[in-house]
Amino acid sequence: MAATPHLPQPECFLSVSLLLLLLLVSSLQISLAKPSVQESTESEIISRFQQYLQINTSQPDPDYKQSTSFLLAIANSLSLESQVLEFVPGKPLVLLKWPGTDPSLPSILLNSHTDVVPSEPHKWGHPPFQAHLDPSTGHIFARGSQDMKCVGMQYLEAIWKLRSSGFKPTRDVYLSFVPDEEIGGHDGAEKFAESEVFDKMNVGVVLDEGLASPDGFYRVFYGERSAWWMSIKAVGKPGHGAKLYDNSAMENLFKSIESIRRFRSAQFDLVKSGSRAEGDVISVNMVFLKAGTPSPTGFVMNLQPSEAVAGFDIRVPPTADPLALERRIAEEWAPSSRNMTFEFKQKGPLHDKFGKPMVTPLDDSNPWWGLLQKAIKNANGVLGKPEIFPASTDARYFRNRGLPAIGFSPMANTPILLHDHNEYLNKDEYLKGIDLYVSIIKTYSSFAPRTARDDASRAEL
Ligand SMILES: *[C@@H]1O[C@H](CO)[C@@H](O)[C@H](O)[C@H]1NC(C)=O
Ligand SMILES: *[C@@H]1O[C@H](CO)[C@@H](O)[C@H](O)[C@H]1NC(C)=O
Repeated sequence: MAATPHLPQPECFLSVSLLLLLLLVSSLQISLAKPSVQESTESEIISRFQQYLQINTSQPDPDYKQSTSFLLAIANSLSLESQVLEFVPGKPLVLLKWPGTDPSLPSILLNSHTDVVPSEPHKWGHPPFQAHLDPSTGHIFARGSQDMKCVGMQYLEAIWKLRSSGFKPTRDVYLSFVPDEEIGGHDGAEKFAESEVFDKMNVGVVLDEGLASPDGFYRVFYGERSAWWMSIKAVGKPGHGAKLYDNSAMENLFKSIESIRRFRSAQFDLVKSGSRAEGDVISVNMVFLKAGTPSPTGFVMNLQPSEAVAGFDIRVPPTADPLALERRIAEEWAPSSRNMTFEFKQKGPLHDKFGKPMVTPLDDSNPWWGLLQKAIKNANGVLGKPEIFPASTDARYFRNRGLPAIGFSPMANTPILLHDHNEYLNKDEYLKGIDLYVSIIKTYSSFAPRTARDDASRAEL
């Protein structure tokens, strides 16, 4: 929490000059108690973004010390309340609060992660933690420029603008900077969403990350696919490499792989034909193949092995029927009749804690959706058709609690380069995004429902 400076109170009034002094002191006290936030220039805003990008928060060993002190310094300049939570030692979550005038209303949570994925610097045109700004194009090259240090800083810059304009939120606005989204979020957002601190925040809606869009429409996400990581194993009689016989481990595994590939093609065709979006189909990709009998020079070539294993990354939309997929796996992909077994290394849920599909409703039951559309329109932005996020984000931990969570990273006219070499964001897109968040935070934090309906419908979720 930010400390409020206090000045000693004068004790007596001896003369007019002392009275004047008193007036001076008390006006000084007011200005110290409520430090005014100065408007920033464009170059200050860009420079802060670059500073955040220059902190090496790459997994597997992010520099949390620097990112935490950087964020706390900005929070301090903005007189936001701050807290550093460590659900797991060494993995700090920075929680900031801009108190509203009516703390009884559910709050707004703006979530972002501080960590980034590793990079291969020699494959980049500019070092990934230099945050080089190309003067001719305005592109800022850095790991995290899209995923998602941009969003974290845009939240803060939007608050900076709102603070300097004198705006006061009605609802409490929280910002969480979580440490480990890129490796699953288990020590950050997952524990946070289940914590007592989170309960006390009385969150009404969460904003989290989305994806860049190459065209002029901003992408927006209301759910995401769940990761099912599965390995299937075949066993069979070993035999001479020259012999043709049925039911070898390899042959049994190949029958499964062929069946999985047919399913994959059918799903992919739906995307290619444009009849389904990427997030609406079940994707399945083979990620490892483990078989063969090792020899000092590689593998034994004249032996058909007795075991073979393959691993698959399956992504399941929240609208899919999990039982039907499980049946397909047990009957077609790894049938015991073919001496196959299967095992899940991870099996993300499709339903929230209350048994409902893990999607944020985009109808009248969720006022935050209409408010977001309005806020973006007011800032001259155009939203694309809402989508299911094709991969995973921390938003799932909030949706699991039945909370509305919307994925949105304001990057239009931008190629999708998350996790890629030469990840960049153009400075003008970055600045435009700040204005979108100014509009969103203003709209969200001022939303005072005339009835208790929105809060009631939240309790029902
Ligand atoms: C960034 O940190 C990672 C460890 O997480 C390290 O491997 C890498 O070399 C660092 N990069 C730079 C440019 O310091
Ligand atoms: C399954 O294993 C049994 C026992 O080794 C064997 O008799 C049978 O032929 C195998 N079936 C298939 C389809 O591989």
